[in-house]
Amino acid sequence: MDFSLSEEHLMIRDAARDFANNELKPGVIERDIKQEFPTEQVKKMGELGFLGMMVDPKYGGGGMDTVSYVLAMEELSKIDASSSVIVSVNNSLVCWGLETYGSEEQKQKYLTKLATGESIGAFCLSEPEAGSDATSQRTTAIDKGDHYLLNGTKNWITNGGSADYYLVIAQTDKEKGHKGINAFIVEKSWDGFEVGPKEDKLGIRGSDTHTLNFNDVKVPKENRIGEDGFGFKFAMKTLSGGRIGIAAQALGIAAGAYDLARDYSKIRKAFGTEICNHQAIAFKLADMHTEIEAARHLVMKAAWDKDQGNNYDMSGAMAKLYASKVAMDVTVEAVQVHGGNGYVKEYHVERLMRDAKITQIYEGTSEIQKIVISRGLLRD
Ligand code: CAA
Repeated sequence: MDFSLSEEHLMIRDAARDFANNELKPGVIERDIKQEFPTEQVKKMGELGFLGMMVDPKYGGGGMDTVSYVLAMEELSKIDASSSVIVSVNNSLVCWGLETYGSEEQKQKYLTKLATGESIGAFCLSEPEAGSDATSQRTTAIDKGDHYLLNGTKNWITNGGSADYYLVIAQTDKEKGHKGINAFIVEKSWDGFEVGPKEDKLGIRGSDTHTLNFNDVKVPKENRIGEDGFGFKFAMKTLSGGRIGIAAQALGIAAGAYDLARDYSKIRKAFGTEICNHQAIAFKLADMHTEIEAARHLVMKAAWDKDQGNNYDMSGAMAKLYASKVAMDVTVEAVQVHGGNGYVKEYHVERLMRDAKITQIYEGTSEIQKIVISRGLLRD
């Protein structure tokens, strides 16, 4: 076993850390308050290669492994989880899905732009009545010969307003259940596609989350991803990798909150000494650090599984389940260590606490991760 990171991994981690501190940190509080999408920051992340990290260089990507990706996700998420979810969705749901299952024409037309950040992608599975129960798709894509006619509504879509291309999951043949579901690439400019209201969220307020409406949108046949009926498996396989990205996001939120709590405990004084000298605080730091290390091991193991070609459905689900719980626990404790200052915006920890909650909800709630893990355990 080797727990050390390569020179290349360390360089990627440091580059992401520098970017987060120099480019994401300024304005992060204001973007959260105003629910402002980090347009300039996303543009720079695209230029630096953070939006298509694992994509083959022949399609404009960085050709990096999943370990590199989770290292970058952790660093970006320590500072700005709104920006890191944009990175996560674009990398692991949109680019990975297209590169792995798209046709060569689709890759040339769409992936090359998405991997460089010239365009942004969104992944559209959830619906008003199909969140956790993802097979119950109400959005329909009726086969009309040379095209599909897409109708329906998608909810809580990350990058909903800012994306250029949308991977949309829809039911083509209801009789066939999940085997009658397809995935399509939809362009924002197409007739009948409408970006609905933006959600006013508890956390990750800099990311834009929207309802999307499809009214008789004509989707050319060549924009279906994979064979007819592959859409549900496409969504499941893509989400398995996405969950590793969100686990890394949760890890970063926890680690960022811990760093703030540790530093604050060394300068804040009470009862005549820095509060880190009180066992009540020192033991909190010890617990936080231990939980973060445990989460980091699960995240790295899942990323390593993916890089080795091992099945990562369970390891990704375990990483997300555990890291998102750690993110909640650690951020709550970080606010506690800060006392009254933890409750005000300028100290950053209250934002991290609000941001942490979504990691237990999107890309499969914690309860869904337990379904995936327990089914994996009990399979044979
Ligand atoms: N890989 C490949 N195939 C898979 C799979 C996987 N990981 N998981 C399931 N499948 C296959 C099954 O083998 C089955 O196929 P067969 O019938 O051919 O054997 C088929 O898919 C249906 O599977 P299930 O019977 O297990 O389906 P289910 O209805 O019991 O649901 C579930 C399974 C795991 C609960 C699934 O519905 C699920 O993951 N739900 C959560 C959805 C989710 O994560 N939503 C997040 C929205 S996206 C988002 O949040 C993005 C964002 O913007 C940040």
